[in-house]
Amino acid sequence: MRVLVIGSANLDLVYEVERLPAPGETVLAAGSASYAGGKGNNQAVAAVRAGADTRFIAALGRDDAGDRLAAEARAAGITLLDRRVDASTGTAAILVDRRGENSIVVDSGANARLTDLSAAEREAVAAADVLVLQLETPLDTVAEAVRVARAAGTRVVLNAAPAAPVPPPVLRGADVLIVNEHEAAALAGPGADPMTALTAHGCAVVITLGAGGALVGSPGEDPVPVLSYTVDAVDTTGAGDTFVGAFAAALSGDGVEALVAATGFATAAAAISVQRKGAVPSIPTLEEVREFRDAR
Ligand code: RIB
Ligand code: NA
Repeated sequence: MRVLVIGSANLDLVYEVERLPAPGETVLAAGSASYAGGKGNNQAVAAVRAGADTRFIAALGRDDAGDRLAAEARAAGITLLDRRVDASTGTAAILVDRRGENSIVVDSGANARLTDLSAAEREAVAAADVLVLQLETPLDTVAEAVRVARAAGTRVVLNAAPAAPVPPPVLRGADVLIVNEHEAAALAGPGADPMTALTAHGCAVVITLGAGGALVGSPGEDPVPVLSYTVDAVDTTGAGDTFVGAFAAALSGDGVEALVAATGFATAAAAISVQRKGAVPSIPTLEEVREFRDAR
């Protein structure tokens, strides 16, 4: 499977707190650490660790954070097609509480400069089996990538995260839309059943439910629930990204059965990732996912 991810790369600064502070409140952290992150980067790592031949198009600054993210992506086995731009590498401040829940602030920095795909980048889209996109990259670039992929017959997996409006042509251009419950509700609009509203765009839709597993929907078909695993969450940062990258790597064949199989694999990968700290360091390999599933 040849997966191409176009998306964000951030250096995450993670603080472990007892509970998330209220407005105006200062809390002391039990510890802090920096990790490689960013939704695009996390998804690329998840895809390559799941066994896919993985390319990643990202914009990085000419700074230490950019060097570190590039080195870690390449060490993970990703073919990194990076542009270095005159902006700071993206960063994220992440607070993780005792239950593993988080609050995140992202400074896009260099990621906002991922505008217009070059001829070589469009070629990479056309050469991939699956294109993976998220919304930490300028929407015009996401829309352009979708158009190039459609014309070339490359499958599009769109992770509409973080929650933001997506133009209908982009949704129609996606083969699979992956969203969590909040993103699904925001995209569907008030009063609508999210699965019904989103599959009406003609794409398959996977709604992730955290510990509740996932719901797989296709236009005109009843949604299929996929159960998750009971685990103790330490840090849920990047769990959604682990799901998306693992899903893209595992997606082979057409129809609901293929979607459900990829969702089962992705659910296991995400369940492993929440038991470990950080985004990139928590993402499991194919072997780890197989062992985890065999043991259940
Ligand atoms: O989805 C988790 C990611 O969101 C973090 O790694 C952070 O960088 C933000 O992009
Ligand atoms: Na994690």
